[in-house]
Amino acid sequence: MTTFSNRVEQVSISGIRKVFEAAGEDAINLGLGQPDFPTPEHAREAAVEAIRSGEADAYTSNKGTRELREAIAAKHDRTNGFSVHPRDVIATAGGSEALHIALEAHVDPGEEVVFPDPGFVSYDALTRIAGGTPTPVELREDLTMDPAAVEDAITDDTAAFVVNSPSNPTGAVQSEADMREFARIADEHDVLCISDEVYEQLVFEGEHHSPMAFAETDNVVVVNACSKTYSMTGWRLGWVTASERRIERMLRVHQYVQACASAPAQFAAEAALSGPQGVVEEMRAAFEERRNVLLDGLNDMGLETPTPAGAFYAMPRVPDGWCDAVIDRGVVVVPGEAFGAGGTGHARISYAVNVETLKEALDVMADATASVE
Ligand SMILES: Cc1ncc(COP(=O)(O)O)c(C=O)c1O
Repeated sequence: MTTFSNRVEQVSISGIRKVFEAAGEDAINLGLGQPDFPTPEHAREAAVEAIRSGEADAYTSNKGTRELREAIAAKHDRTNGFSVHPRDVIATAGGSEALHIALEAHVDPGEEVVFPDPGFVSYDALTRIAGGTPTPVELREDLTMDPAAVEDAITDDTAAFVVNSPSNPTGAVQSEADMREFARIADEHDVLCISDEVYEQLVFEGEHHSPMAFAETDNVVVVNACSKTYSMTGWRLGWVTASERRIERMLRVHQYVQACASAPAQFAAEAALSGPQGVVEEMRAAFEERRNVLLDGLNDMGLETPTPAGAFYAMPRVPDGWCDAVIDRGVVVVPGEAFGAGGTGHARISYAVNVETLKEALDVMADATASVE
């Protein structure tokens, strides 16, 4: 008899995909979670060169090439305020695999994983796939995650909590004080803090801080990727950074599910991380301009929107029926409940489109807003 595992039966296909499928072909898509810029030319070239020379033909070391891991360690030194040895990094198939191996290596069946609600869809699904129990926590009014709420949610059965700043879907950025608190909680309660930092370079107000820089124990695992920083979502290249013993456990999973990250992507990532960083600032500035256009437009419609200080998402509070009315008019937005019960009454709007398209979409949203009021 063929049956499916209970763990997988509890996971459904992401609500985001369903919205795309429902929208027409000519729709303006403000549902996408990827930057609309090209991958930097020097990163592409490095991959092409590695393919032509045959350097990318074979498996690399399970953890990834030494040169890539050195580039990642140098990047942490340069921008994150902590230092790691290149052996304490595993290159993964995107941030997605990094989250997967972090949870698989640290969560036993029945153990709880605390994460933001609304939050990135993978936290709930990957917790279930690991056999764990999802424990969503409500966000503050400004859509940041309250360390006190995380601390309250921690029980003897908690294996880990996830911090995501800047956040998908809210665009919220946690303060340095919050990040220090998350590090303290990980230390004092002896629970793992998985810090998902894939949007760290896209910050418009304040600064990104990693709890890894503040923790006194090794209870923080950093998840990052080239996907959003270098517009490399299709390359599938991310990484985890952690202590030697945690890396060794995560490697046990990575080795069997992935063997190694794609070799051409590793060459591209090394070039992206160690090459000129001007492209990153250009993208950040473009996103900031769009963010301002979107925020002004939403405010003009009277939709209350906490100012998103990072990433490329905004999450206004919207009246009942608003998302359907917008989608029916040919603009794809994602209903907030796709990111957890806490997202109910919100919509996630991605502004990874040019200003002109964004303005067109705002006209449609204004029309939809008037229709549901
Ligand atoms: C918060 C967050 N973490 C991780 C990921 C996964 O990124 P990747 O494309 O590198 O797997 C995403 C992608 O949307 C994300 O939004």
